Amino acid sequence: MKIKQFLSTKNIISTRNYSLKVLGIETSCDDTAVAIVSSDRKILAAERYTEREIQRKQGGINPSVCAQQHRQHLPGLIEKCLSDAGTSPKELDAVAVTVTPGLVIALKEGISAAIKFARSHNLPLIPVHHMRAHALSILLIDESIRFPFSTLLLSGGHALIAVAESEEIFKLYGESISGSPGECIDKVARHLGTLGSEFDGIHSGSAVEILASRSSESGHLRYPISLPHVEKVNMNFDQIKGSYLNLLDRIRKNGEDVDIPDFCASLQNTVTRHIATKLHCFYDSLSAEDRLPGQLVIGGGVAANRYIFDAISKLSAAHSVSTIRTPLSLCTDNAEMVAYTGILMYQNRSKSILWTPEKIPDTIYADARTPIGLNASSEILDQPRRQLVNSTIHGNEAIRFRNFDNFRNK
Ligand code: KG4
Ligand code: ZN
Repeated sequence: MKIKQFLSTKNIISTRNYSLKVLGIETSCDDTAVAIVSSDRKILAAERYTEREIQRKQGGINPSVCAQQHRQHLPGLIEKCLSDAGTSPKELDAVAVTVTPGLVIALKEGISAAIKFARSHNLPLIPVHHMRAHALSILLIDESIRFPFSTLLLSGGHALIAVAESEEIFKLYGESISGSPGECIDKVARHLGTLGSEFDGIHSGSAVEILASRSSESGHLRYPISLPHVEKVNMNFDQIKGSYLNLLDRIRKNGEDVDIPDFCASLQNTVTRHIATKLHCFYDSLSAEDRLPGQLVIGGGVAANRYIFDAISKLSAAHSVSTIRTPLSLCTDNAEMVAYTGILMYQNRSKSILWTPEKIPDTIYADARTPIGLNASSEILDQPRRQLVNSTIHGNEAIRFRNFDNFRNK
């Protein structure tokens, strides 16, 4: 067998001319996803099943409903992928599965399906970190990306700023200590009430973006709140959410009308300023040491937001960093990113890989919260050398910085 050959031959057999095929399984939250990807960057098959809308209507994600969904749908999705890819299990080189972070009982379903499949087809099993897979998914489609690169992940479940030094070495510089930008925007949008039938079936996040684009010229400044004070590069979206929910309640109690487009524009601008302020602090700290990577990869569902993306690109350009957005199909939870991360780990002979069936235990620990990498917040300055004038992230205005002392004296 191919894999046996790789293992038994000490004098490295290069995988460079040989295309690996890996089956990926993702069940960390409410998406049941399976894909087969090859090392020459081809997505041979990809399937996803989700009941997000149903769960949302029932008031949010229920972990045991997710687990039940994964158990029910995984076997069929695996079969479908094998058939779509025209591949038999013996032609595969490994199975990669998300083991952390996520909903433990949901992760366990993917893990147990992967163990069963790997054992019965004599394949190596590759445990994958969900957030690393999000960051690395860009490598599946963009050959220009080089390690080390910075990554900003913004979604309904998380917000973080990290540097990917290799497939398995990540440094975490900051993350949200409470809430996420996606959940914050969604919850405030729900509180605003019915946004109109034109938004049925689309993410509340995109509804907010569309409404904000219809705001008045200074609508983004009409409903200001103070930005959360969080140490260094950490963020706090629950605080922004709470402030906007309180503001809405106050306006309504006073019997005033809310200008929905202006409200959405203000919310979007506040979320963007919070992210931009933190990203600037990260850039400023690493460039002080001449350690700032030249590329920033941005991913997660919230990266779909053009306003946020444009602001981050503009800020990055001011720091001589180019911004690359993960395509939307790979931004949301998917199994292609898990399979491709598995391929990268395989090519680098990762120590985490369970190469043979005897090495595969009956179960693998599913951890709810494993950080993406080593905590590197000590490399972040307590305050940036220059303060970002964060009003300049809006529109076409050029990014401006102020020397910190001048800023304080203003
Ligand atoms: O990464 P993702 O698809 O899923 C998880 O977090 O699991 O992110 C979904 C989040 C939702 O909160 C959604 O409202 C938000 O991404 N989102 C957006 C936009 N499109 C999706 N937020 C702001 N602007 C958008 N255009
Ligand atoms: Zn995710």
